[in-house]
Amino acid sequence: MGFRSFPLLLIIITSFLLLIHADQPSDPRLIDHLVRDHSFQCYTNHAKTALLYPVSLPSNLSGVTAHTARYRSGSLRRYGAQIQEFHLFPGTDVRPYVHRLILVLETWYHPWSSLYNISGFRLLSPILGILAYDATNRSELDIFVDKRPISIDFTNISKTPSSNGIRPLCAYFDMHGNLSVYDPSQASLSVCEGFRQGHYALLMESLVVPRKKKEEGGGGDGDASEKRWKFVVGSSVVGGLLVAVLLGLLCVALVQGKKKTKMAEMERRAYELEALQIAMVGHFMAPTAGGTRTMPTIEND
Ligand SMILES: *[C@@H]1O[C@H](CO)[C@@H](O)[C@H](O)[C@H]1NC(C)=O
Ligand SMILES: *[C@@H]1O[C@H](CO)[C@@H](O)[C@H](O)[C@H]1NC(C)=O
Ligand SMILES: *[C@@H]1O[C@H](CO)[C@@H](O)[C@H](O)[C@H]1NC(C)=O
Ligand SMILES: *[C@@H]1O[C@H](CO)[C@@H](O)[C@H](O)[C@H]1NC(C)=O
Ligand SMILES: *[C@@H]1O[C@H](CO)[C@@H](O)[C@H](O)[C@H]1NC(C)=O
Repeated sequence: MGFRSFPLLLIIITSFLLLIHADQPSDPRLIDHLVRDHSFQCYTNHAKTALLYPVSLPSNLSGVTAHTARYRSGSLRRYGAQIQEFHLFPGTDVRPYVHRLILVLETWYHPWSSLYNISGFRLLSPILGILAYDATNRSELDIFVDKRPISIDFTNISKTPSSNGIRPLCAYFDMHGNLSVYDPSQASLSVCEGFRQGHYALLMESLVVPRKKKEEGGGGDGDASEKRWKFVVGSSVVGGLLVAVLLGLLCVALVQGKKKTKMAEMERRAYELEALQIAMVGHFMAPTAGGTRTMPTIEND
């Protein structure tokens, strides 16, 4: 009796696994768009200007946090803004001109931070994003700075590199995901300067590549992208194994089912034979003992 619901269970489990697999986006822009959509849900008519709101994100985006604030572009240009790790100085502007804009700040931890290719480097901080949108129609805006660049302070959220004279570096990922690497600000090794919207991080060169890895794959891959690679391969190997096991179980269930239908068929034939015998006996008007019908033996259930 357990076998009848078994294939159904398998189908449910398999499609669930496939769904989980298909649910992980590989394009960083998709994350930005999801966060944007959830950020705009924070704004009701009562939302205050220049007040930072935490954005609630779906559980499948755990590892990303976001905050949002609304500004009049005139006051942003005049006064700037200090929000989380970002300091926008007076003279910060957006293009094209809009009256009101919405800033969205994102923090990407593992595994989302490995969506960007940082081949040759290791992350020392989560990836921080700053994006601006037209408050009325959600279209993306370009951030420009007139005077002082945007400063991004990683002091509270970065690992300090383990000495050895390793200098942290700043990373900027533009809207196409292209990476530029440059030195931190003169003032502090954990403060980066930026000029545009996009994503920033603190990283270091991954000088120390384990020898084994180097021999295997030609080396050069950063720690994070290596981790991502392992994550992807790992999850597909595990997924593949699971699917293989499930397929095996499905086969067993099918064979069992087939055995059952075969038995039913034998039984049906036996009945038919008996009916035929009775009919023939009737035709010849000769009462004969039909003989006991042999039931097919049922081995086990
Ligand atoms: C998370 O789930 C929502 C539906 O609740 C879906 O629209 C979205 O694409 C998912 N996000 C990711 C990153 O898988
Ligand atoms: C870092 O943490 C200190 C103490 O909690 C806080 O005063 C400071 O504002 C934080 N800096 C940033 C850039 O968040
Ligand atoms: C990552 O970037 C490097 C060069 O910066 C390139 O050689 C490599 O193919 C890229 N990897 C992926 C997965 O895009
Ligand atoms: C949004 O509105 C601005 C003007 O406020 C306009 O320049 C822009 O083209 C609009 N974008 C979209 C996608 O409609
Ligand atoms: C950035 O990436 C895009 C798409 O990958 C490419 O077409 C473009 O040339 C790159 N830009 C720079 C400045 O490297």
